[in-house]
Amino acid sequence: MRVALTGATGFLGLRLVRELLAHHDSLTVLAHAGSGCALGRITRFLELTDAPAVLIAGLPGRIRVVETDLGRPALGLSAAAFQRLADELDVIWHSAGNINLDDDLDTLRRVNVEGTRNMLELAAAGGRRPSYHHISTAFVGGARREGVVYEDELDSRYGFENSYEQSKYEAEVLVRDWSRAHGRPVVVMRPSILVTDLPAYAELPQHPLQFLTRIVQASLGDGGPGGVPDERRPVVRVAGRPDGHLNLMPVEHAAAVMVRLAGLPPSGRADVYHVVHDHDVATTVLADLVERIVPVRVRLVAKRPDDPAPMETAADLYPGFTPYLSHRRRFDDTRVRSLLGPLPSGIRVDLGYLAAGITPGRPVSTAGAP
Ligand SMILES: NC(=O)c1ccc[n+]([C@@H]2O[C@H](COP(=O)([O-])OP(=O)(O)OC[C@H]3O[C@@H](n4cnc5c(N)ncnc54)[C@H](OP(=O)(O)O)[C@@H]3O)[C@@H](O)[C@H]2O)c1
Repeated sequence: MRVALTGATGFLGLRLVRELLAHHDSLTVLAHAGSGCALGRITRFLELTDAPAVLIAGLPGRIRVVETDLGRPALGLSAAAFQRLADELDVIWHSAGNINLDDDLDTLRRVNVEGTRNMLELAAAGGRRPSYHHISTAFVGGARREGVVYEDELDSRYGFENSYEQSKYEAEVLVRDWSRAHGRPVVVMRPSILVTDLPAYAELPQHPLQFLTRIVQASLGDGGPGGVPDERRPVVRVAGRPDGHLNLMPVEHAAAVMVRLAGLPPSGRADVYHVVHDHDVATTVLADLVERIVPVRVRLVAKRPDDPAPMETAADLYPGFTPYLSHRRRFDDTRVRSLLGPLPSGIRVDLGYLAAGITPGRPVSTAGAP
């Protein structure tokens, strides 16, 4: 069975590669043209995560890299190469995306919407009618901050917190419409915010909280909070609800669940799944996380201060993320649990877990590794 994956060098994609290699002999990686050696990046990830030496040694024989640009028609391939690729495939996983919450809508649409359109064209062109697995996000639920979001919902009535959400929503609409128009099944996986406790190695892709950490350190200073007494820490007011909560899903567990979902018999239409953790994390834990990395005291307040101190202005440097500190909604994953059974990851996403995932990773030498 020929399986292809986009976004294989990404934060989620690297974990999907590892899971997929456990189930398939080979993998076609549709890599981002001109963005560095995909095989080298996958190899480095597996080395840093202590993958078995035999898996790493076998990669060149099991992974075929095809350089593509999702945002270009035919993925930037010649018409003949595009058709050849399409005709080879039995399964397509589309995980690539632009996850920068603060990019403008046109930039986000190029990869998230046009890229999805081009991948659907690949699926449509394939003589073997490849199955199509689309990585969306639970945040297509948009700017609805309360209540329960269900897996069969997809509408724009609540608006969006940022253009990223909108672009992912538009992509999911394309996938759903394509499935109806072509009478082809698709699997849509909607993970929540993906996190890890793997230290933040410079050569690996970042997750949203690492990105947030870098921004906070760049704007509020990186003196290291250790030893600074509470009374000497300035208070930073940030718009958010102290009773808010967010769903943070360990990325390794998410990839394992996704591969299991992909193995289920398709219903014949768009099967949409929330890939989420069984417990939410309080927004106050995220405030505590910030206090661990910079010597401030974070106070969550009802709205953005009208008279922000310079430090509070700086603290709002990732506006695409700030609204999530006011969220209290829950993502229903009944469909996933009823098909796969209870999914306890055994991983508790707490302050310790999140702090481990933003700690800089120490360089690892593989020379002479046993
Ligand atoms: N991270 C999260 O918390 C999260 C949560 C929910 C849903 N998701 C969804 O999960 C998917 C994967 O996210 P991620 O966290 O793995 O993102 P990521 O770490 O930013 O990785 C993005 C991947 O897409 C590739 N890519 C970007 N532009 C491309 C282009 N023009 N042509 C071909 N490939 C391109 C990148 O290749 P290069 O690295 O070589 O540029 C990389 O492999 C996305 O669809 C995202 O919306 C992510």
